[in-house]
Amino acid sequence: MKHILFALVAIVSASALQGQIAASPHDLSTTGPRGKTNTTQTCVFCHTPHGAIGSVSSEVAGQPIAAQLIPLWNHSTTATVFTMYNTTNNPISNLQGVVDATVTGASLACLSCHDGVLAVGAISNLPNDVAAITYTAFAGGLDATGHIIGTAKMGVDLTNDHPISITYMNAGNTAPLDPGMKMPSTFAANGVKLFANKVQCASCHDVHNWGTVAAGTRPFLAYTMTASGLCLQCHTK
Ligand code: HEC
Ligand code: HEC
Ligand code: HEC
Ligand code: HEC
Repeated sequence: MKHILFALVAIVSASALQGQIAASPHDLSTTGPRGKTNTTQTCVFCHTPHGAIGSVSSEVAGQPIAAQLIPLWNHSTTATVFTMYNTTNNPISNLQGVVDATVTGASLACLSCHDGVLAVGAISNLPNDVAAITYTAFAGGLDATGHIIGTAKMGVDLTNDHPISITYMNAGNTAPLDPGMKMPSTFAANGVKLFANKVQCASCHDVHNWGTVAAGTRPFLAYTMTASGLCLQCHTK
């Protein structure tokens, strides 16, 4: 009896984890809710168990290596140079942090699809159930060649988006560069995180978890937006 119970618990928790991607907009498999492809696999659009993009030779020349920050990354990154939210492009801003010249690190992974330049199926290691990735378009979401076309397309101009690829802490790692920000130790337990000391897309987003409207965690938010909770994880306001 005990064994059956353990087996059941294992199955339930495994499907609960899978369920976070399955049926969410990040489920690009043949059963996905929006733009679909011809494979039954879901993780493959972002991860691969072998042959991940991680060596300099498999990267686009001159581009940072996304796989250094994303485990077993499988999606090609773009050679796009982005227009950043910084004090030159946004002169009204009062940024204390240093913004990279173009998108770096973990955000490059998101924008490899969300800039709308590369197809979602532009991956290094194909799933074994198909010979090539093909697409079923979804109006306002994905076009017939697999490019994001709707409101989820952020494009290459990020000057009207919250700053990313921006340094959070001072050099000694003792305090935030902007005194109006909180110490990372106060938000670490809540799923909000920095990547190599920088704010990136996945600081605010949990790419694996669509979240719910009721909990204030949709779309793919790392923490609730109810009462602007997510913003207040970092900002003292
Ligand atoms: C749309 C892209 C995308 C899909 C699909 C995706 N991942 Fe991820 N995954 C990421 C990104 C980006 C990160 C790094 C950012 C982070 O950790 O928040 C990551 C990190 C991870 C990590 C390391 C961090 C952690 O959470 O433990 C694991 C393990 C992982 N993914 C497993 C999976 C599995 C298994 C699937 C399929 C069920 C999957 N991912 C589907 C984008 C994706
Ligand atoms: C493999 C391609 C791919 C990658 C990589 C990817 N996404 Fe997505 N994402 C999509 C697609 C396709 C959709 C659905 C777009 C639609 O239906 O309009 C989507 C939807 C979303 C949505 C919901 C948009 C809505 O309609 O409400 C959010 C938020 C999002 N992604 C954030 C991220 C973040 C943050 C990352 C990186 C951590 C990331 N995505 C990486 C392909 C990707
Ligand atoms: C400071 C936190 C934060 C950062 C950083 C951030 N986002 Fe978001 N994002 C949000 C919140 C909050 C929402 C939901 C906004 C709403 O409900 O109106 C959102 C919404 C979205 C959507 C849905 C937009 C739509 O109208 O369909 C996409 C896609 C998305 N983010 C992708 C990204 C990508 C890609 C990056 C990095 C380039 C990123 N986000 C960085 C907080 C953030
Ligand atoms: C992961 C931490 C984090 C989260 C979560 C976060 N921010 Fe930020 N935000 C920053 C950092 C870091 C800066 C740059 C501060 C600096 O360098 O002075 C910033 C800058 C800003 C700025 C621009 C300030 C300027 O001078 O141009 C605004 C406005 C802002 N955030 C609003 C928000 C809102 C609204 C939310 C919630 C949707 C949010 N932030 C969530 C970290 C965060």
